[in-house]
Amino acid sequence: MVNQKNILLGVSGGIAVYKACALTSKLVQKGANVKVIMTESAAEFVSPLTFQALSRNPVYIDTFDEKHPDKIAHIDLADWAEIALIAPATANIIGKLANGIADDMLSTTLLATQAEVYIAPAMNVHMYAHPAVIKNMKQLEQWGYHFIEPGAGYLACGYVGKGRLEEPESIIKVIESHQQREPFLSGKKVLISAGPTREQIDPVRFFTNRSTGKMGFALAEAAAEYGADVTLVTGPVAEKVTHSGIKIIDVTTAEQMYDAMHLHFKDQDIVIKSAAVADYRPKHIYGEKMKKQDGNWHIEMERTKDILQSLGEIKSGQYLVGFAAETTNPLEYGKKKLVKKNLDAIVINDVSSEGAGFGGDTNVVTYVNKLMKQDEVALASKKEIAEKILTFIDRDMKDEVQ
Ligand code: CTP
Repeated sequence: MVNQKNILLGVSGGIAVYKACALTSKLVQKGANVKVIMTESAAEFVSPLTFQALSRNPVYIDTFDEKHPDKIAHIDLADWAEIALIAPATANIIGKLANGIADDMLSTTLLATQAEVYIAPAMNVHMYAHPAVIKNMKQLEQWGYHFIEPGAGYLACGYVGKGRLEEPESIIKVIESHQQREPFLSGKKVLISAGPTREQIDPVRFFTNRSTGKMGFALAEAAAEYGADVTLVTGPVAEKVTHSGIKIIDVTTAEQMYDAMHLHFKDQDIVIKSAAVADYRPKHIYGEKMKKQDGNWHIEMERTKDILQSLGEIKSGQYLVGFAAETTNPLEYGKKKLVKKNLDAIVINDVSSEGAGFGGDTNVVTYVNKLMKQDEVALASKKEIAEKILTFIDRDMKDEVQ
């Protein structure tokens, strides 16, 4: 998949620059046309000549070192690239890109390129966990940049943890499989629910849950990337979509989510309910803020409607997928929900296991279809999990497991 592709490799300054040499060599062996831009700090670690010899192309460092008078190098490179890969990506280059700073050859070219950009970070474990770096990576992810997560292990700075540049073979594998994406959901309508619901008590208080909407938003993004026409019904969350084609419907309560899902359900091909819907809401909503009083306050709660169950009862050809958030016996409870709610598949999520569940950027799930066939998805980013779930759904729809 990288054969004959024009790949712009951005090398920023860290000890992992030596791995970028192997990366260049492997890409060239696979038939890619590789041009390298190094930052000045990267050139402190490895000589540009090494990259020139491996890529068989001149190496760029200085924006003003124009090699051809008839061209402006950074624009020419930006336009030439079909894929841009930053490996290793330091906290500095990530920060520059996330904030639109273009003060050297690499950052300037990256702002100018329309190519799909992959970023393989490598840095000290504490730098990788710094809120500024996390914020910058999130911003870039929201803009559609793809991250190739660093591995965990011994770091050159002496620490053991996450921050080691992913191995060149794995970086290439990620890019290849990503480039192989086919728009297999093209022409399909997909309805997704995400996030928590809020059930009001009085004008200043409400009941909610820990859902952040990350899984549902990742599903919406992935479905849109696979060519689907996506409608996303979401409770109150901080997440944002990057794909311009996704239609967003904001709701607050379980009742509003019920109405929105039913309004759009009829002409959908696939419906995925990843939202964490409140099962109960206060029976009485106070019109004014409740003042505190002596003694306890008892709030009577009433059941909300089970949206997924109600969709299962009326479905007519839609491939209906639920989520099950469990803390004990996940498979047993999850499978029961699959049958009881008349679903075509369920994504079971043991929210108590490490790396899974609410808030985080990763998940571990088991996808179970109507024939009780199980597909385990090991710890991965929510985006990767979303891609896998959609692939399973597509497979089962083609096999008519419905
Ligand atoms: N769900 C729904 N409406 C509700 C409650 C849940 O549509 N009022 C959906 C969720 O979106 C999810 C699935 O049902 O896709 C399972 O939700 P979960 O909270 O795991 O289970 P519950 O059905 O609420 O059952 P329990 O509380 O017994 O675990």
